Amino acid sequence: MSFIEFRNICKKYPGAEKNTVDGFNLEIQEKEFIAFVGPSGCGKSTTLRMVAGFEEITGGDLYIDGKRVNEMAPKDRGIAMVFQNYALYPHMTVEKNIAYGLKNMKVPAAEIKKKVDWAVKILGLEEYRLRKPKNLSGGQRQRVALGRAIVKNQKVFLMDEPLSNLDAKLRVSMRTEISKLHRELGATTIYVTHDQVEAMTMADRIVIMKDGIVQQVGAPLELYNHPANKFVAGFIGSPQMNFFDVTVKGNTVSFADGNQLILEKGALAKLNGRGGEMILGIRGEDLKLDAQNMELYGANSQRAVITNTEVMGNENNLYFTFGGSQAVARVSKYEISQIGDEIEFVFMPSKMQFFDKKTGENYIKNDAEE
Ligand SMILES: Nc1ncnc2c1ncn2[C@@H]1O[C@H](COP(=O)(O)OP(=O)(O)OP(=O)(O)O)[C@@H](O)[C@H]1O
Ligand SMILES: [Mg+2]
Repeated sequence: MSFIEFRNICKKYPGAEKNTVDGFNLEIQEKEFIAFVGPSGCGKSTTLRMVAGFEEITGGDLYIDGKRVNEMAPKDRGIAMVFQNYALYPHMTVEKNIAYGLKNMKVPAAEIKKKVDWAVKILGLEEYRLRKPKNLSGGQRQRVALGRAIVKNQKVFLMDEPLSNLDAKLRVSMRTEISKLHRELGATTIYVTHDQVEAMTMADRIVIMKDGIVQQVGAPLELYNHPANKFVAGFIGSPQMNFFDVTVKGNTVSFADGNQLILEKGALAKLNGRGGEMILGIRGEDLKLDAQNMELYGANSQRAVITNTEVMGNENNLYFTFGGSQAVARVSKYEISQIGDEIEFVFMPSKMQFFDKKTGENYIKNDAEE
């Protein structure tokens, strides 16, 4: 049995018309780092709080370490949690804040001291241990909140947007610290975020949710390369995947503005005889402007006029209108174009995804070929 198992977990808040979390199924292995992502209100915190025991489970069964825990009190579940809106005790020093939970659990003083010493060391808070929260930076406060959770030494670590209060630079460094901490502690972790970059960089597997329903579960690159539907394709990756309304007939893809491209054998095989109206998706980095790809696939090359550019330093984003949609190509920093320039580009044949226009389902199934 998996370490944490969600079997058809549902949550219906009193008075709500429908389930806020609906039929959530997932098996988490011991020591895994799982990220829940999805837009605001999709049920991430609700799901996490059901694991912690702070929110009643209204349907389904939840197992932790082989035991059904639906009715088990939070303190007996073997869980430590960092909340979305954590609050430190303002009148207590860093070390007292970290020790507080252990004191409540009646842990002996010597043991508490050992744990606090360990936590401040591992979190780089040694020189701040006698300071009060108001004299700490946001990142230091965040580490104190993490410290309170890690000293509890539990089997399961739940974190609800622990970095949401930090500025962009601190988020990046805390991301690394949390990953490191996870490697050192080895606690099974569920990490909630609406930031797909955090999920991509930290998690072993990502659970992507929308309106209380799991859309896809998979390793970061699996979701990136083989999104199960248009929602996942659009949510993971920045800038967002390009989408075009197209009509496929035989091997010909026609765009809304009359442009066409001919599908090569591989892409055609993946479509498996499907035709008609659908949505073509392709990531910005898979629209190629370089000479080598032009040589290979140039017979299918397309033209567009740049309407905007983003010079990122390491790469450039070139925006243009094509096929009746706004689109973006991600190109290397050496490929410089100006607004008004005409570009020639190709759709990388193996990277095209085709989505059902109504359901959003991806017609191109994940296969071993990359
Ligand atoms: N106690 C409650 N009673 C009724 N509805 C609630 C309650 N708590 C949350 N909800 C609703 O349930 C839905 C899911 O909320 P939840 O907090 O789980 O979302 P989330 O995915 O964590 O969003 P965010 O990214 O904004 O934190 C929302 O529509 C919210 O308004
Ligand atoms: Mg939340």
